[in-house]
Amino acid sequence: MEENNTSADMQDNQSLDEQNSQELQTKKKRGGFTSKIGFVLAAAGSAVGLGNIWRFPYLAAKYGGGIFLLTYIVLAVTFGFVLMIAEIALGRKTGMSAINAFKKLNKKWAFLGVLCAIIPIIILPYYSVIGGWVGKYFFTYITGGGASAAGDNFFNAFITSPWQPLLFFFIFVSIVFVVVLFGVEKGVEKVSKFLMPALVLLTIGVTIYALTMPGSAEGIKYYLLPDFKKFSVKTVLAALGQLFYSMSLAMGIMITYGSYMKKQDKIESSVHQIEVFDTGIALLSGLMIIPAAYAFSGGNPETLGQGPGLMFVALPKVFANFGNVGGGILGALFFALVLFAALTSAISLMETVVSIVIDKFHLSRKKSSVIVYVGTLLLGIPSSLGFGVWSAVSVGGMTILDMFDFLSNSILMPIAALLTCVFIGYVVGCQNLTDEIELNGPFKFKKFFNVMIKYVCPICIAAILVTSILDAFGVFNI
Ligand code: TRP
Repeated sequence: MEENNTSADMQDNQSLDEQNSQELQTKKKRGGFTSKIGFVLAAAGSAVGLGNIWRFPYLAAKYGGGIFLLTYIVLAVTFGFVLMIAEIALGRKTGMSAINAFKKLNKKWAFLGVLCAIIPIIILPYYSVIGGWVGKYFFTYITGGGASAAGDNFFNAFITSPWQPLLFFFIFVSIVFVVVLFGVEKGVEKVSKFLMPALVLLTIGVTIYALTMPGSAEGIKYYLLPDFKKFSVKTVLAALGQLFYSMSLAMGIMITYGSYMKKQDKIESSVHQIEVFDTGIALLSGLMIIPAAYAFSGGNPETLGQGPGLMFVALPKVFANFGNVGGGILGALFFALVLFAALTSAISLMETVVSIVIDKFHLSRKKSSVIVYVGTLLLGIPSSLGFGVWSAVSVGGMTILDMFDFLSNSILMPIAALLTCVFIGYVVGCQNLTDEIELNGPFKFKKFFNVMIKYVCPICIAAILVTSILDAFGVFNI
């Protein structure tokens, strides 16, 4: 995304008028969304990705099914709603992306912009590793290997192989790099307007089929009925991390999107729509994958709790039921669409990281893109090898990929979210943001927003973080 350096270098003592006119100019230069629906679709496009289709179902399966689902939904309509509103309003108010938005409102808080910037740098490499896995499955299906992909050992043999996951990871990152380098993401976005609805329709179809498979009824129960005995602080932390990840929160993305939003468009209803879209697709993906995984494993907790591989193990078995030809076509189509969703998200992630590099080091777009490309390749290698050659390396029982994932989603994002709440509630003042939201009509949840931002969110996030860190160091077991 384009960045403006003029406003970044703004002097403190500049008069308000000058600032305003400068802002107007930059607004013009940066362009913006022309309609509310355009804004909602773009933000939803960034939000919907592997987080919904790959990550949500495996976490839900791992953390007790229904209880995770319930926790997630409660968090989405409270924390998720409030934080997304806050970030978009912050962006629209300042007209700037994260790294500059915090700085503009208060010099001392510039560090929070930097923290937000670090998160996508950590996510992009391992996101691309998973993108590579999707690429491998797509390749397998189009080359007629669908039947073998349904084999019990296929996934494991693939991720433990010394070079295969690396190869697909390299290809994936290279495609993303080429798109970002040539700035053709607009074209990609256009295509994705057709492919994303296609993915949703196909997911609905596969879900309906998966739900009618023998043995899936127990899985549906597992997924939908909460078992309160399985509830713990870890469930909340996992759900909270997933919420941030899935909605692209706590990393400045929504601030940037907000900065492109028109003043006359309604923030509150846009956020409702983005949330419904993002959460809907996550819930649907869970419904497609978990009952299927349950049916094929007979409810074996090891399969359900197996982590990142769940989608890759469960779905090929569903497709195999359609025979060689039908299953082959279905698998190829499905993984092609997921690959596309992964590519669009990765492109927007790389775009974010590139604009951070341009801003910070004042390099050209080309140079910055090359640096980010090489950096992503280097950082992704350990995550990719962590399942095979380097599987002996583990931190607290986590693989390298899980470790990066945990660091960004369960540590850094909650910290960034917590600080954002403190910043808004006590430094900028809620009023400043609610005024922005009320520019065009009443803000129905204003009181709720204020209480959440000032008290509930910071206290709860701090409590969840401290408990889980103490737990990680074995101080006590929850
Ligand atoms: N929300 C995306 C997903 O569900 C992942 C993601 C997180 C993302 N932060 C992002 C995508 C920033 C694009 C830009 O897959």
